[in-house]
Amino acid sequence: MSGVVATLTSAGEQAMALAKSLTLDADDWHHLARAFHRAEALAEQALVVAIAQVRPELRPALVSQLDDERRHVGVFAEWVDGAPLPPVQASDKQRPEVVWLTLLLANEVAGYCQFRLLEGVCGASERGRAVAAVASDEVAHVARLVTWLQEPRYARARAQLVRVMDSFIAGLEARMSQFLPREAHLLVRGGMADLIGQTLGALLALRPPGS
Ligand SMILES: [Fe+2]
Ligand SMILES: [Fe+2]
Repeated sequence: MSGVVATLTSAGEQAMALAKSLTLDADDWHHLARAFHRAEALAEQALVVAIAQVRPELRPALVSQLDDERRHVGVFAEWVDGAPLPPVQASDKQRPEVVWLTLLLANEVAGYCQFRLLEGVCGASERGRAVAAVASDEVAHVARLVTWLQEPRYARARAQLVRVMDSFIAGLEARMSQFLPREAHLLVRGGMADLIGQTLGALLALRPPGS
């Protein structure tokens, strides 16, 4: 098993273990479905902006990732009830390529861990299977981004990459509150923020195979 897959498998098991202490009522489900839909819609939008700014060689793989993200948005759109969802628009700010790749990786890793948590909550149901398929798409996205970030071209941008990652990690508790805002879920939120931060750190410390 590659280092990336092993790291994500272990993180997925930890997220599913956290799911055991999560009890969700109807309001929580309503909120969670909207939050996941919004997060994936933002991921899709951010990817559109990133594709326009990275070098052309990276674009075909990111365009295929975009197809996956659009499918993920569709999965959560089916879960949403109540008022129509407001459209989202990611910032189209210019960023260096290494910043984009680090941000995309951070979002993918957070998404992956949250989907495994959700899969643990849903169990062997239709929703559980749908979210498991979403999580396995994210494994492929994470693996590709980690491989790119290991390229020697980014070696001198390491400090920049670490700054982006640290700032993402600092915002994780607040990010988790968007999904599980209730006080009763404080421990799961903290556990997820720690898990995502540690997983990101472990992935960025991996060396390319054979080096
Ligand atoms: Fe996704
Ligand atoms: Fe993804």
